[in-house]
Amino acid sequence: MKTTIIGFGSWGIALAHLLVQNGHTVTGWDNPAYIEKLRKNGINEYLPNVAIPDGVRLTDNVEAAADADLFVVALSTKAIPAAAPAFSQYFTQEKIVVIVSKGLEESRQIRLSQYLSEISAGCKIAVLTGPSHAEEVAQGIPTTVLAASECEEAAKIVQTVFSTESFRVYTSSDLLGAEMGGALKNVIALAAGISDGLGFGDNAKAALITRGIAEITRLGIAMGAKPQTFAGLSGTGDLIVTCTSVHSRNWRAGNLLAKGNSLEATLTEIGAAVEGVNTAKTALSFAKKYDVEMPIVEEINRVLFENKSPKAAVADLMRREPKDE
Ligand SMILES: NC(=O)c1ccc[n+]([C@@H]2O[C@H](COP(=O)([O-])OP(=O)(O)OC[C@H]3O[C@@H](n4cnc5c(N)ncnc54)[C@H](O)[C@@H]3O)[C@@H](O)[C@H]2O)c1
Repeated sequence: MKTTIIGFGSWGIALAHLLVQNGHTVTGWDNPAYIEKLRKNGINEYLPNVAIPDGVRLTDNVEAAADADLFVVALSTKAIPAAAPAFSQYFTQEKIVVIVSKGLEESRQIRLSQYLSEISAGCKIAVLTGPSHAEEVAQGIPTTVLAASECEEAAKIVQTVFSTESFRVYTSSDLLGAEMGGALKNVIALAAGISDGLGFGDNAKAALITRGIAEITRLGIAMGAKPQTFAGLSGTGDLIVTCTSVHSRNWRAGNLLAKGNSLEATLTEIGAAVEGVNTAKTALSFAKKYDVEMPIVEEINRVLFENKSPKAAVADLMRREPKDE
């Protein structure tokens, strides 16, 4: 298959390894300055030990990147409305667009698949999501993920195109549930980083993961997702990895916030996209719209945007009215 990866950052490069391994042609598209740097250095600074696979064509030209059967959208979420419309005329009925970015479209307050479907010319949309750090996928460390699409054929094609001996892909028809799990886990990861940064232990982390998936599931069900999706790879699976791994930027951001850094200083220190920050805001709007209680998401919003101290946020979570589980 001819494939194009739109946004050739760490995740795009890791996925290119799988596609090349499976014999597909790969074009990596990104902005001109970054493509020039990649051509010169042959590596991405966030994935320093991983070379660009042989045979990958790098380009900053949309027309040159448009000749593909399958597009992978691997931009940071914030960049999607800026960069994806240039490709929309090429997202035609016979094409598959696989979203691997994790987040929500902030200005329109919709899911990424809804946004891409609105701007596309009728392509089939899928997401590939689950517990999968680029650093580990690029090294061939065993990983399992979910390909979800409302089009069964598209989910199966994505499964076949990406599956390797170390990368196992399951399919699902619950696009909504898979997307919401992948986006919202980043907000809970900020909370897990805060918990560790405040010096709390395993009990607190387990509580955040468990109560985190409870509130993600509540919102997902209210929106029409299948409850069981949140117990799977794109829900609990991704939440565990992102709350416990040193690779997680959202966890690191939470950790820095807990140590007294401002949001601005935290984002500068991390450098790359911390998706949970924008997702937190949009998730709160979704919670209001669907009238769903999301206490962790609410407190994270107060810490991020209202200068509430992480300690006070934890205290308020613990002091909530006693409830049934
Ligand atoms: N890194 C991972 O392990 C991983 C795993 C699964 C999912 N994801 C998701 O994939 C997405 C990308 O993550 P990443 O880690 O690869 O981030 P990244 O910052 O390494 O890559 C994003 C790429 O988008 C490009 N980009 C940004 N704005 C652009 C624009 N306007 N025009 C053209 N290109 C632009 C950047 O140059 C960059 O190369 C995120 O949503 C993330 O949550 C990442």
